[in-house]
Amino acid sequence: MAEPRNRYSTVSLILHWLIAALVVTQIGLFIAHELTEGPISREFVSIHKSVGLSILVLTLGRLGWRIANPAIPLPDTMRRWEKLLARGTHVLFYAFLIGMPLVGWAASSAGGRDIQWFGLFAWPLLPIEGGREVAGQLMDMHELAAKALYVLLALHVAGALKHHFIDRDNVLHRMIPWIPRRP
Ligand code: HEM
Ligand code: HEM
Repeated sequence: MAEPRNRYSTVSLILHWLIAALVVTQIGLFIAHELTEGPISREFVSIHKSVGLSILVLTLGRLGWRIANPAIPLPDTMRRWEKLLARGTHVLFYAFLIGMPLVGWAASSAGGRDIQWFGLFAWPLLPIEGGREVAGQLMDMHELAAKALYVLLALHVAGALKHHFIDRDNVLHRMIPWIPRRP
């Protein structure tokens, strides 16, 4: 009988860590934008938009891959509520990694601001009316979502570290295979 899978596929690993790095970059770009002024500050927002839209495309690809290659089950040592919390966080991550860029894109579209994807081509705008007022409301949603994302991130990382240092199981190994597998 084939040995049960005990780690995510290489594609899943690459997408997990690439998207995680890009999300951290997004937060960094916003901080850089806040700390600067003038054209450079606007450039940080422009890169933020390009990175955000790239996260959208990568996450849609990741979701497709995930549907075709279902996740490995969580260890039986986890209680039911723990599994629900872990999977619930994952589902919300997917919702945010799709929803946040869509809302940002919609805000730029409503505000009539063109988006240049890394200065290479004009990203199409969504047909959204309403001008600055609607753009402002959408940006409020984007900002609120950012706060919720910080909470999810804290929960997710705390969970991963709890598995490794307290439960001493192999959940972190599944996503970081070079961490030695525990017996
Ligand atoms: C912005 C940063 C991150 C995001 C958006 C993110 C998102 C996700 C998502 C969506 C999954 C579910 C994968 C699936 O089953 O489809 C996942 C799994 C996982 N993540 Fe992250 N993650 C991030 C950072 C981290 C960090 C920093 C760690 C380690 C400290 C980590 C450890 C894990 C582990 C161990 C799993 C596998 C859980 C399992 O075996 O089911 N993640 N992550
Ligand atoms: C997953 C992708 C994204 C993440 C994680 C993200 C995250 C963030 C965060 C944390 C902030 C700061 C919120 C605050 O505290 O005020 C922000 C602001 C902003 N984001 Fe995003 N974002 C993403 C995608 C996008 C996209 C695709 C666009 C537009 C096309 C966009 C446009 C903006 C704008 C215009 C701001 C406000 C900058 C300012 O204050 O002038 N974001 N984003």
